[in-house]
Amino acid sequence: MFIYKAGVVGAGAMGSEIAQVITYAGLPVVLKDINQELVQKGMERIRSIYKRRVEKGKMTQSDMDAKLALVIPATDYESFRDVDMIIEAVPEKMELKKKVFQELEKVIGEGAILASNTSALSISEMAAVTKRPQKVVGMHFFFPAAVMKLVEIIPGLATSQETVDDTVLFAESLRKIPVRVNECAGFLVNRLLMPYLNEAAYCLQEGGATREEIDKAATDFGLPMGPLTLVDQLGIDICFDVVQVLLQSYGNRMQPAPIWGKLYQSGYLGKKSGSGFYVYDADKKDRLADWIREVQNEKSKKSKFSLDRIIYPMVNEAALCLEENVASASDIDLAMIAGTGFPQEKGGILRYADEIGLDVVLARLEELYKEHGDRFWPAPRLKRMVGAQFLGKKSGRGFHIYG
Ligand SMILES: NC(=O)c1ccc[n+]([C@@H]2O[C@H](COP(=O)([O-])OP(=O)(O)OC[C@H]3O[C@@H](n4cnc5c(N)ncnc54)[C@H](O)[C@@H]3O)[C@@H](O)[C@H]2O)c1
Repeated sequence: MFIYKAGVVGAGAMGSEIAQVITYAGLPVVLKDINQELVQKGMERIRSIYKRRVEKGKMTQSDMDAKLALVIPATDYESFRDVDMIIEAVPEKMELKKKVFQELEKVIGEGAILASNTSALSISEMAAVTKRPQKVVGMHFFFPAAVMKLVEIIPGLATSQETVDDTVLFAESLRKIPVRVNECAGFLVNRLLMPYLNEAAYCLQEGGATREEIDKAATDFGLPMGPLTLVDQLGIDICFDVVQVLLQSYGNRMQPAPIWGKLYQSGYLGKKSGSGFYVYDADKKDRLADWIREVQNEKSKKSKFSLDRIIYPMVNEAALCLEENVASASDIDLAMIAGTGFPQEKGGILRYADEIGLDVVLARLEELYKEHGDRFWPAPRLKRMVGAQFLGKKSGRGFHIYG
């Protein structure tokens, strides 16, 4: 199916950037929000992305004007009548997303695809309230959508292969890297990333290292920013909500570090609120040390920080994803590079583990499991692989095949 016109519902942080990406690929896009002011805010965000490109000499002013003219601002669904693909990017509330899909169905054509940019909600559940569950799919962009290459394509239980194929082609036409991910809580990248972010918070609250030391270890490893800076960028509220969804689905190994809760409840939500793990606004007080002390009083365990303590939980979760057929080993590696900036020269999280040696990774996970419990519960697949001498590069077979 060829997409001639697209629609985006919700002109916030994600929706406006997704609309920008669509116009950059030369397609018209309807951009809807609940009132004129919010639509205009979204339009301004799109304009500022293009303006930066013009200032850098990457495009001309007239190119910019032509791209901006492709956005059709809307506060109702009238202009959605002839769209082929709609991406909803309204707040992360199941009932709201269901309502939006039901309202859209009253006006859109029979063949139109309904995609959701949800970070963690069930695509199958959203699809179930529509008359076209075979045409409902997850299309998960990453923040900032104008920059990040990865898009997770998530079929629900009833999604047709044709819809998946059309959505993959659409994502490619937007110059993105689509990776097909089978539905599970957190999908692929957030599911792998959260244990890493969470462990960094545990290391911090248990006095193993300062925020700066933890972040520096990650950037020295080759990641674009440290885990605590990343949480501040993403928003502590957003990360905390995602971690709750993971906790409900996967149990104790996703138990969030109490320091997250402390920051969340105190309104220290990261960069957008002027402070989080770090302080960004001069008028905000740096209270991290007090809160660490409070959390330590509640649960005064002291522990050491090491880089493998934050990286290996990602390897372990990736092994669980493989076991559950969430994605292939190559797609997991690709998704981590394109979605999180995992250092490309290391080839992705699974190639990195293969390089270290899966026996080494497993032995360390077992050690950490003894010390810290469920967060390091070694994946059965990893144990099976080591038992069968699938040790990674050194034995010619691990998550990948070598030689
Ligand atoms: N922010 C991120 O880092 C990120 C990353 C990936 C996915 N997501 C997901 O994207 C979605 C949107 O997140 P966001 O950060 O852009 O939120 P946001 O709050 O910035 O934007 C949501 C927008 O939707 C609008 N809206 C609400 N109801 C609407 C309706 N009925 N019709 C049209 N517009 C409506 C709101 O007014 C708001 O402008 C969420 O599902 C979120 O989980 C967010």
